[in-house]
Amino acid sequence: MKTVICYFSGTGNTQKVAEKFAEQLARYGEVVVHSIDLLTLQKKLPDELAQQIETCDLFGLGYPVYAFNAPPIALQFAKKLPHLAKSKRTFVFNTSGEPLKLNNISSIKLYGYLRRRKFDVTNEYHYCMPYNIMFRHSDEMAHKMWETAQKLIPLDASEMMGGAKHLLEKVRFGGTVAWVMRCQQWGGQLNGRMYRVSKDCVHCGKCVNDCPTHNIRITKKGKFRFGGNCLMCMRCAHLCPKNAIRIGLFNKWKVNGPYTFAEPKNDEERQHYNKLLTNAYKTYFDEAEKRIAAANANNEIVE
Ligand SMILES: Cc1cc2nc3c(=O)[nH]c(=O)nc-3n(C[C@H](O)[C@H](O)[C@H](O)COP(=O)(O)O)c2cc1C
Repeated sequence: MKTVICYFSGTGNTQKVAEKFAEQLARYGEVVVHSIDLLTLQKKLPDELAQQIETCDLFGLGYPVYAFNAPPIALQFAKKLPHLAKSKRTFVFNTSGEPLKLNNISSIKLYGYLRRRKFDVTNEYHYCMPYNIMFRHSDEMAHKMWETAQKLIPLDASEMMGGAKHLLEKVRFGGTVAWVMRCQQWGGQLNGRMYRVSKDCVHCGKCVNDCPTHNIRITKKGKFRFGGNCLMCMRCAHLCPKNAIRIGLFNKWKVNGPYTFAEPKNDEERQHYNKLLTNAYKTYFDEAEKRIAAANANNEIVE
């Protein structure tokens, strides 16, 4: 069996999930994983990738949730997918900072693009991963989220390979809510033009090289220019080694510095600065633990 997994990841969370899926699905055959960075800047998908997608048995597409939607880059990528002659089994996975069921509506528009091209979405999975905007999750929370995802993904992969379907429940009027929330996309483009670089910048060029839409450039005079193609993926600001990028109107929500996902060693590191949605997180972890315990009891694979 051949699987192709394509993903967009602004700051690494969705990439971790994509790679874990790849590791698990490799038990069943060949797996190829592609980041979709920069692909939407091209008129069409590279022939080799299009051919891999056309000929694979299982196709997976992953993205982080942005304002209860899939990011524009994921939608544009889906629009560039080939129109297949016969339907192909497809799974969708996404990550988000909070475990609200409302995040399930993020795939509605994407489903439309995929189905029109005969990508038959039979399975969809969501994993809670730490916020890259809004506030910084504690190290303990980040560790717990990733530890949980790492246990759920093998179960989800084996459920899918067993032939079971699994789609996430959408709330009523979800399509309309997602449509309204898509204003974030043009708001993000507008806000992207307001990004600024502080004097702490050491001109390492990381933000310029890493931007998934090549939206940042440095002029001959050494000034930074942010174009109108910002996804607000946070990669530049989150991973800036000098925390030198101001993210326009949302600077108070900036989260700088990658998560280590390591288990915290002392109580100070364990502190939660987030008291938001405590019950929703509890429900997410409780349900995951129940599922993992049941799988353990049935001797299913849990890694
Ligand atoms: C512009 C933007 C909008 C976001 N909107 C949501 C949201 O609606 N719901 C949510 O739970 N998380 C939201 N997040 C958090 C991300 O979905 C989450 O941190 C995700 O795991 C990031 O994945 P990545 O590291 O692969 O980019 C948002 C993040 C960004 C940058």
